[in-house]
Amino acid sequence: MKRLLVLVSLVCIGPGMAADGDAILEKHCATCHEINGPAAQSVEELWQRQGPDLFYAGSKYKREWLSNWLVKPRRIRSAGYLFFQHIKPGDKRDIVDASGLRPHPALSPAEAESVTTALMALKAKPGEIKAGDFKGGSIAIGFGEMVFDKFNGCMACHEIEPGYGGLSGPEVYTVARRLQEDYLVSFIRNPQAWNPKTPMPNKHTAEPNIQKIVQYLVALAKEDWDDTK
Ligand code: HEC
Ligand code: HEC
Repeated sequence: MKRLLVLVSLVCIGPGMAADGDAILEKHCATCHEINGPAAQSVEELWQRQGPDLFYAGSKYKREWLSNWLVKPRRIRSAGYLFFQHIKPGDKRDIVDASGLRPHPALSPAEAESVTTALMALKAKPGEIKAGDFKGGSIAIGFGEMVFDKFNGCMACHEIEPGYGGLSGPEVYTVARRLQEDYLVSFIRNPQAWNPKTPMPNKHTAEPNIQKIVQYLVALAKEDWDDTK
């Protein structure tokens, strides 16, 4: 990790110089992230990946979140990307062995800005995502939690607040700060369309419930989680 941090800080640019987002991506990010696609086609291939795919980043992430996170990355998956390497059984619930988890490389604000621009230009193929798929609307948090947890079993793998929920998936209490709503709808509808070998199951959630779940995730993200540390 030390080596990578040094590498990334090497790209630090001086005042007045524009950082080349595409060049930084190629050189410092593609070692762990797929930036050209396609998604892993076999489990073996998936296990070689060291971070989530970024080749459709522009259809997935919210720009503002992305540029902030790249300057000050915080953990999204408590057990890392390949969670099974870092989870061990505990008395009451599984526990994370964080000793093997390394901090994410950070960028300067100028680098983050140009890398964000480069990432936001990486769009999903036409037809993979539909603008307006999320119909909006709101839901009471308590009811939303019931749809998420009791009706659909999503909490088995996702934390809905720090320390509460499953550990194999990314935390979802800030997911609507991070990801575009239309992407959330599309991913929950059919995770395998995005990543054929993803461990996230297709729960065949009925369309109205998908909308309710995304309403819930939007409401949850508005609570006052501190996602700066
Ligand atoms: C050593 C491997 C490694 C390198 C190098 C690396 N990343 Fe990552 N990246 C990861 C891992 C692992 C995660 C998952 C972190 C988490 O969930 O807490 C991640 C997460 C991300 C995320 C959030 C994605 C999501 O869907 O949760 C973004 C955005 C990102 N990286 C961008 C970059 C950029 C841009 C660079 C180059 C400057 C980069 N990464 C370099 C391993 C790496
Ligand atoms: C068996 C565990 C499991 C269950 C059950 C599960 N998920 Fe997931 N989920 C995951 C994993 C693992 C990922 C990361 C997927 C990837 O990187 O390909 C994920 C990713 C996600 C994401 C994208 C988050 C991000 O930061 O990229 C959302 C949103 C999500 N799940 C919602 C749900 C909902 C809604 C349900 C219930 C219908 C659900 N999940 C059930 C394991 C699960």
